[in-house]
Amino acid sequence: MTMTPVTYGGSRRPPRGDYSVARPDYTCDQAWDSYTQAQHELYARLFARQLRLVQGRACDEFLRSLANLDMGARIPRFEHVCERLGHATGWQIIAVPGLIPEEAFFRLLSQRRFPVTVWLRTPEEFDYIVEPDLFHDLFGHVPLLFDPVFADYMQAYGEGGLKAQRRNALELLARLYWYTVEFGLIDTAHGLRVYGAGILSSPGELERALTDAAPLRIGFDLRRVLRTRYEIDDFQKTYFVIDGFAQLFEQTAQDFAPIYQQLLPLPSFAPGRAEPGDRLFGAPVSTC
Ligand code: PHE
Ligand code: FE
Repeated sequence: MTMTPVTYGGSRRPPRGDYSVARPDYTCDQAWDSYTQAQHELYARLFARQLRLVQGRACDEFLRSLANLDMGARIPRFEHVCERLGHATGWQIIAVPGLIPEEAFFRLLSQRRFPVTVWLRTPEEFDYIVEPDLFHDLFGHVPLLFDPVFADYMQAYGEGGLKAQRRNALELLARLYWYTVEFGLIDTAHGLRVYGAGILSSPGELERALTDAAPLRIGFDLRRVLRTRYEIDDFQKTYFVIDGFAQLFEQTAQDFAPIYQQLLPLPSFAPGRAEPGDRLFGAPVSTC
């Protein structure tokens, strides 16, 4: 899941998916039996390619948890993954028809329920897809929900989203999601690694996020992130690098109300431009 029809590019297009089957909280059944053989095979191909690409690039917490996804021979049954996840961190995954409204999304996260889209991209969208589909949601997001600290961060984010809505600060808070959950990098003993789902589920961005010289890689700073705009339809020009999930959790645990008050009147920063005070990382030459 990325964000919502509104945040996701401000597109007027209705989100893709069959919303007639959704319950009032936007959840639905996965209807696993309705996937075709061709869809299972497409999923297996997506999984195999990405499994190869994440080696040496994704953080260890992600790589360790991938095995919980049935290793990609077919589209997993959500209930199987959900059972393992429940034992690990108490999170559930639940089926949704596609992008859902912000409020419903935050509420689910605050209840430790992660929404996963039921539909899979078409073969024509093998390399690139605009809206989050089943593969992005499951492969990109679910493994880290097995990590206890990251799992707590996601729940806190959901609670923070409900609060940001009341304070008209969603634009700021959405940037935090974007630059951490979707496009975050992490500094490890083996060098920079990826933990953001938007990178992990994208072959092109995964190959370039760590090694391309063009994008900025800036040490995580909460206020800097909240002020930085992002682009949804191109490779990122700026990434933010955390030292670990504990740092991420600690820096976001404080009350954001005074921070919103301070930042809302200030101008935002353009992606791809360094600002005074940025702690910049160079691009590693090789990732393996
Ligand atoms: N501490 C934040 C607040 O008071 C909530 C939050 C936690 C937001 C974690 C994002 C991530 O609003
Ligand atoms: Fe997402």
